[in-house]
Amino acid sequence: MAPAPAPLTSRPQWQALTELQRSLATCHMRDLFGQDPDRAQRFFAEGAGLSLDFSKNRITDEVLSALMALARACDLPGRTEAMFLGEPVNETEKRPALHTALRNTGADPVLVDGRDVMPEVQQTLARMDTFTRDVITGHRSGFTGKRFTDVVSIGIGGSYLGPRLVSEALLPYHHGQLRGHFVANIDGSDITEVLNRVNPETTLFLVQSKSFRTQETLENSRVARDWFLANGGAERDIAGHFVAVTANASEAGRFGIRTENVFPMWDWVGGRYSLWSAIGLPIALLVGMDQFRALLAGAHDMDLHFRHTPLERNLPVLMAMLGVWYSNFWGADTHAILPYDHYLESLPSHLQQLDMESNGKCVTRDGRTISYQTGPVIWGGVGANGQHAYHQLLHQGTRLIPADFIIPLRSHNPVGEHHASLFANCLSQTRALMAGKTEAEALEELAAEGMSAGEAAELAPHKVIPGNKPSNTLVMDKLTPHTLGALIALYEHRTFVQGVIWDVDSFDQWGVELGKQMGKEILDQILGNNPERSQADASTEHLIGLFRSKRP
Ligand code: F6P
Repeated sequence: MAPAPAPLTSRPQWQALTELQRSLATCHMRDLFGQDPDRAQRFFAEGAGLSLDFSKNRITDEVLSALMALARACDLPGRTEAMFLGEPVNETEKRPALHTALRNTGADPVLVDGRDVMPEVQQTLARMDTFTRDVITGHRSGFTGKRFTDVVSIGIGGSYLGPRLVSEALLPYHHGQLRGHFVANIDGSDITEVLNRVNPETTLFLVQSKSFRTQETLENSRVARDWFLANGGAERDIAGHFVAVTANASEAGRFGIRTENVFPMWDWVGGRYSLWSAIGLPIALLVGMDQFRALLAGAHDMDLHFRHTPLERNLPVLMAMLGVWYSNFWGADTHAILPYDHYLESLPSHLQQLDMESNGKCVTRDGRTISYQTGPVIWGGVGANGQHAYHQLLHQGTRLIPADFIIPLRSHNPVGEHHASLFANCLSQTRALMAGKTEAEALEELAAEGMSAGEAAELAPHKVIPGNKPSNTLVMDKLTPHTLGALIALYEHRTFVQGVIWDVDSFDQWGVELGKQMGKEILDQILGNNPERSQADASTEHLIGLFRSKRP
């Protein structure tokens, strides 16, 4: 067996970054801006309709150069080409990761095991086009002949978060013929609240599941089918009201969904990377196929940018390597996603799965235990709301939390000076995080308000804002299908780059299997299917007892 490659932390490029962090430990970004009037222009990059200001980071030219040297030492260019070319970059499952093929609007073939997959990708898009057109025009209607008014998408994880994010983010592009609903949770309240709001005669159900074995999705789909049959629908009508998107057509058939109502998925697309596939059917139904194709085109433009732009000007690479800089050299445990756009409220949730299910790993691709930090906790929320919730901790807390601020230059809803105010809020936060407020500035401010020197001296320490808190600002002209596609693809590639540096398999998710297995065992015990005591711990046993004591 070939000797294991040198651990990441023993690479000279890693050592260089360790030294650079030490040299910058007491440096404040205020000084970096003061020393270099061109800083904002130099640390600014553009691609696929997005613009990145990364000047409010604890970096110098030397740091940036060292980060890119680490990326090259980890063979990032080679690993990137391997992904685009369909090599089995998902090594533990021996599969390619070809979400890029789903939006490959170019003419290039993409080979999987020597076979060009683009014809079936194009064929599926054509089927989606026909299907969505038939539903939207009323050519395809419900069992009483009425047009569909509601689409209920049943799925979880990547079969839910991506479609929901994009459907919400593109609300200004909805044609208005259909209302979209998303059901994910096994909590009965989720599906009950949706079924209470729709009419079986005019509701189309999409069962979205790559495996068609996900308990939450199957249970919810059974409830939907029973509800449909109990409210006027007949077995013969199931075909007209239930459609599946899955890589497991046989299981969909056993559920009662005919082959002609199954849209395919492929095992070379991961769930959290699948909104570009037929899993995006809810999106296409709500905004129309032309807008869905514009979304794909935006992602494809970001693919071209990522694949062909020098690392130093490459948006996914810059954002990824800055994340490595803070995670591995400054001890940052989390990363905040702060979209200053009402329509992007669900972006942090989608990026949580994308990033944390991809890089929340503790062994390398070849199974060696990792001694350094890997994927951070991804969290966030929409701005400016967060300023009245958790920004206090960002400004005066003890933790270093790098943040991505995302904002369009133009709003879909130009109400008064709202957008100017939103933009000013966004910039005020990144500026305050960077510059902060010194004690001298606080004292001067309090004196100007007429406070006595003694009172001011008492209060000033509480008004000091340390600053030196890093942020990126991502700007786009307007939130459109194209810029949204580019934005999501940007984060997909950011996640990939970090996985390359940390040497993890970013495309498997073995960590979720144990919970699923234990869930089945505990459910069986709760339902009395296996009366002998489980091997569970005393806490779990006690809580099972509490639950069973309340069962009717
Ligand atoms: O959480 C595990 C997971 O497999 C995710 O990776 C996936 O997006 C989700 O469950 C749903 O899986 P499926 O689409 O197969 O129902």
